[in-house]
Amino acid sequence: MSLFVTFEGGEGSGKSSALRLLDERLRSEGFDTVVTREPGGTPIAEQIRNVILDKANTKMDPRTEALLYAASRRQHLVEKVWPAIKEGKIVLCDRYLDSSLAYQGGARGLGIENVLSVNMFATEGTFPDLTLLFDIEPELGLERIAKNANREVNRLDLEKIEFHHGVRKTFLSLAERYPERFVIIDASQTLEKVVQDAYDAIMKRMPR
Ligand code: TYD
Repeated sequence: MSLFVTFEGGEGSGKSSALRLLDERLRSEGFDTVVTREPGGTPIAEQIRNVILDKANTKMDPRTEALLYAASRRQHLVEKVWPAIKEGKIVLCDRYLDSSLAYQGGARGLGIENVLSVNMFATEGTFPDLTLLFDIEPELGLERIAKNANREVNRLDLEKIEFHHGVRKTFLSLAERYPERFVIIDASQTLEKVVQDAYDAIMKRMPR
């Protein structure tokens, strides 16, 4: 009766807010959920996260980065996701392997197949039962982030916005490649509607 659900999308898609609200709703209805995130989710994986996201690590090679994400993912699976699945829980995970395929494989240019093969080693082929893709135009997502932080909307340089377009394009291509597990959520809608769509998608996949 377990379900492994991953939340994917670009910056400012609202997936993390939606995850929180969905968890509250599922719990209030009596479902046994586990909320977690990547990179991180366990002490060892969080340490790896700090290395990856440390702004001082300017010399980080793209392949090193992809390997670290995969290492963090592996540890998180072993310590948290697999045990929860075994206990029959509903795992709600903020980002998973598709983020590596979209960011490192697509946008960073390492190639989807290269990044997939590293991740097949790391995960032993553990794919989510359901992947919710919170899809939004990068311009709109980045504008939301700027507003949330109470900053003026920054002028984004071309390279940056192109990177985000690359991420989005790759996510959408992954949804075509894996139609049996992907559901695309229109993240430009109100948060209430986004949560409802995500809830409906989860209910449809819920084992009976
Ligand atoms: P985080 O602060 O958790 O951001 P978000 O709220 O967008 O999830 O930072 C995670 C960042 O790491 C995010 O920019 C996406 C990136 N990332 C990858 O590039 N590859 C991966 O495999 C994962 C899991 C995340």
